[in-house]
Amino acid sequence: MRLDKFLSVTATATRSEASKAAKAGAVTVNGAVVKKCDLHIDPERDVICFRGEPVIYRRFTYIMLNKPDGYVSATDDPREKTVLELLPENMARLGLFPAGRLDKNTLGLLILTNDGETAHRLLSPKHHAEKRYAFRCDPPITDADRAKMEAGIDIGGYVTKPCHIDMSSPDCGEIILTEGKYHQIKRMLEAVGSKIVFLERIDFAGIPLDRTLERGQWRYLSDEEIGILTSRT
Ligand code: URA
Repeated sequence: MRLDKFLSVTATATRSEASKAAKAGAVTVNGAVVKKCDLHIDPERDVICFRGEPVIYRRFTYIMLNKPDGYVSATDDPREKTVLELLPENMARLGLFPAGRLDKNTLGLLILTNDGETAHRLLSPKHHAEKRYAFRCDPPITDADRAKMEAGIDIGGYVTKPCHIDMSSPDCGEIILTEGKYHQIKRMLEAVGSKIVFLERIDFAGIPLDRTLERGQWRYLSDEEIGILTSRT
């Protein structure tokens, strides 16, 4: 891979930034200063440093975002702000997309990646990746309503799969789904005469929301978290 492409796909620098930095002596390959960016390097073996920092090469990028209110889970939208806009501009060329959707007003854990195969596997109904949400509803629901939702409820032409719900009070609880129908929790609550007033995803496929992230903040997944996502069969 060309050195400038490597610096670009790792979101280190644009090709023109890479070229300027190399001319200024800020790029090394295996310890030697390289002034020309058309050099071919082996991303898996060579050690590239940019301004003194080693550049980590990963074939794919995985990001955890704490989604704030008011953003749509899409890569672009003619009217709405998208979750991609919460990432730095230099990450645009990585081709990231949200692995699954959260509604515009839903908060919390969203994974962004450019690993299409893993995303597809996690979202496919066959794989049953668990998604845990904290919710508050109004009006409160009864224990019979909770039991109906847990058993599987008609949300308008579709009966949801059995799921698990823990209520900490009649208007507040946690729900674990293994599927992701459009507006699923909203429609499940509507089917028992209630409405969501707060919804936050707190766990996705065994990865909990990192509570140190403020709303709108993101971080790269750790190697351990990537292992959890990619080793699911
Ligand atoms: N169910 C919903 O209704 N909305 C979400 O964002 C996620 C699950």
